[in-house]
Amino acid sequence: MSRDGQMALVAFLQAQNCSNYPGSWRHPATMQDYLGAEYYQRIARTLEAGCFHMAFFDDRLAMPDILGDDHAETVRHGIRAVKLDLVSILTAMGLATRHLGLGATYSTTYYEPFHVARVFATLDHLLGGRVAWNVVTSLNDSEARNMGAAAHLEHDLRYDRADEFLEVVLGHWDSWEEDALVQDRASGLFADPAKVRRLDFEGRWFRSRGPFTVPRTPQGRPVLIQAGQSGRGQRFAARWGELIFVIQPQLEAARRAWRAFKDQVASAGRDPGRVRVCPAIYVILGETEAAAAEKRALIESLARPVDGLALLSEVLNVDFSKKGLDEAFTDEELAGITGLQALRDRVVAQSGKRNPTLRDFVEISGRGTIREFPVFCGTAPRVAEEMQAWFEQEACDGFVIAATHMPGSYEDVVRLLVPELQRRGLFRRGYQGTTLRENLGLPRARPFDWRAPGGG
Ligand SMILES: Cc1cc2nc3c(=O)[nH]c(=O)nc-3n(C[C@H](O)[C@H](O)[C@H](O)COP(=O)(O)O)c2cc1C
Repeated sequence: MSRDGQMALVAFLQAQNCSNYPGSWRHPATMQDYLGAEYYQRIARTLEAGCFHMAFFDDRLAMPDILGDDHAETVRHGIRAVKLDLVSILTAMGLATRHLGLGATYSTTYYEPFHVARVFATLDHLLGGRVAWNVVTSLNDSEARNMGAAAHLEHDLRYDRADEFLEVVLGHWDSWEEDALVQDRASGLFADPAKVRRLDFEGRWFRSRGPFTVPRTPQGRPVLIQAGQSGRGQRFAARWGELIFVIQPQLEAARRAWRAFKDQVASAGRDPGRVRVCPAIYVILGETEAAAAEKRALIESLARPVDGLALLSEVLNVDFSKKGLDEAFTDEELAGITGLQALRDRVVAQSGKRNPTLRDFVEISGRGTIREFPVFCGTAPRVAEEMQAWFEQEACDGFVIAATHMPGSYEDVVRLLVPELQRRGLFRRGYQGTTLRENLGLPRARPFDWRAPGGG
């Protein structure tokens, strides 16, 4: 995937009652029809009008209820209390658009690979090759309990299992050759049996025989998104990911991480030019600096402390309810964090303390506030300049834009920012192809190229 001097733009969406920012549902301009198809279709049309490469949805298989082992506050304050199934939403959005790429998060820890392979291959056919799968290993014990397990699997083991999961999924996706379907009424030959194979997979975690029941998809196979940040997570991302979603608080560190990750992709035998690294940002735009600052003040006023605590507990898989804000974490407690370990490590590094306090976690992570990601705020030229600096200094290959309110954030980006990026030659003016791979500048996926080093 060449950078071509142009950045990728991806919208970070949630099928829930708020955007990634929990306070967003209290914003006066946020629409509240998120249980209906039109809400998602409206966003999809807006993003397509702005030539966005893709909209992708995060997911969680439980509401945030680790804090105090209770869901009451989550429900009371609407802290991502609603989470809808993503496949139906992607379908609705895909039917309302023609070019926009559409990605959904699906867990390798709680689903069966054959099922996931079939769901995404089917969607890729229905939507003409525009689909991506965000591969996650899931985070916490609440998800485990909803899905029939007592506790969440240990961190690195989740990735070992995920490696095997992907071998099964990609194996199935590649088991129908391009030209297997003949469909010749006259001869009665439907498909060439020599071109449809069983997978016969037997691993440590999974067994799956095949043959797969969905022919090869319009873009060869769906695009893979990945967001692992730990050492083990990055090794996984370097092996499989095509679009990498990262959290990077500032430019210098992002540059170092970008370089290191590209080297890691090369070491895995893949072409780093075909992997796009995109950090999450919030964008707040105004016609003047003062107007943008005023918007930002309103948005920030919507955050509540409980949002941050509930979402920190959720993502780290630790109940913070009995901890004082200025109480330090013991070594044992830090080691017991089984969720987002990269976040724990960032708090330790940035606080400069071996044993940070809960306040350090709240402040450094910015969970529950828009400070969770860098906030680019101002007029369109000013925000475009900041994005340009990140892009041109090789801190990223594009951006994942989160919303401060829905769908107004994206309407502002499309109306004000996209034309400015286009004027600067940083962003395209139209869709180059029909499939997501074409629009990302990725070649069509060749069968089993992921098995051969250098296959990319
Ligand atoms: C930016 C970002 C987005 C993520 N989105 C999700 C998500 O939507 N659902 C999920 O279950 N896990 C999500 N994760 C968690 C990862 O899949 C992974 O399980 C977790 O980060 C632990 O791995 P790590 O320690 O390698 O980062 C996300 C992680 C990051 C960094």
